[in-house]
Amino acid sequence: MANDVRPESLERITTAEAARSFIDDQIKEIKEQVKDGKVLLALSGGVDSSVCAALISRAIGKNLTCVHVNHGLLRKNEPEQVCKVFGEQFDVNLVYVDAVDRFLNALAGVSDPEEKRKIIGGMFIDVFAEEAAKLKDVAFLGQGTIYPDILESKDGIKAHHNVGGLPENMQHFELVEPVNFLYKDEVRMVGKELGLPDSMVNRQPFPGPGLGVRCVGAITRDRLEAVRESDAILREEFAKAGLEGHVWQYFTVVPDIKSTGIKDGKRTFEWPVVIRAINSVDATSATPAVMSWDLMMVLVNRITAEVEGVNRVLFDLSPKPVATIEWE
Ligand code: XMP
Repeated sequence: MANDVRPESLERITTAEAARSFIDDQIKEIKEQVKDGKVLLALSGGVDSSVCAALISRAIGKNLTCVHVNHGLLRKNEPEQVCKVFGEQFDVNLVYVDAVDRFLNALAGVSDPEEKRKIIGGMFIDVFAEEAAKLKDVAFLGQGTIYPDILESKDGIKAHHNVGGLPENMQHFELVEPVNFLYKDEVRMVGKELGLPDSMVNRQPFPGPGLGVRCVGAITRDRLEAVRESDAILREEFAKAGLEGHVWQYFTVVPDIKSTGIKDGKRTFEWPVVIRAINSVDATSATPAVMSWDLMMVLVNRITAEVEGVNRVLFDLSPKPVATIEWE
């Protein structure tokens, strides 16, 4: 990226009016940049890529093609939801790619977090290159990069998949990154003003490498299912407890360790599920979210009873810093 410092002229977006004026400016800028060219965009269904897609589609309509790649690391029912919302409610070309086996085979046996990110990011680019080759005359690549992605990659804290330049086979694409100088709270305000559904605008952040960074160490299909199932239970119980939209981000992590337990009078040797629930404003710092003892016990009981291969539930109360939000 040529210029990766937020311009001083861009004031913090804290009002609907400021969000609307940002949208108007971006629509103008995108039109100027793209003209009647075509844009290919990775639509994960998270806030960043959804807002990015909505902005670009407002500027250029059907000249935007959104590609939703199912890499096998998405949350339960997420691919179905993305296809429903963007297939039915928005005027974009939507392409769904089932790449589950391809990603999981490439990730088999890889335990280093940065290596995992590189494989996932690289394969994403490959899949897009293939999709782009199927489409005619696509010159631009839309990306939902946001400012913390840039800052943290620059500081060497972690490499985000959408920062760090395009590989050789993608260098003919010019990037369109309309939210790259915004913090998360600003992206949400812009999304709201764009008329995106509340469920999408207020959706918690979800990393590009998805559940892959929560299946700590080398990903296996069974442990990945334990992450996905426990995450679904956590989200269901937080919604029931009225915490949805009140806690900034919550998810489960399954590390690659096993401990002894007892089920039906027999010895087990299974994984723990770690529950991570935090509050934050812009992801640069975070504090552990308070939850009731009753809720904690419901989570322990449901997860140990319903998730295969799990015999313990742990609660991660570490702030950022000293921990990061994700485990990898
Ligand atoms: P950390 O773990 O760095 O996370 O404290 C900060 C926020 O960013 C999300 N996150 C990512 N998002 N690609 C993304 O798009 C990534 O590789 C990535 N890693 C972390 C994380 O969920 C948290 O909200």
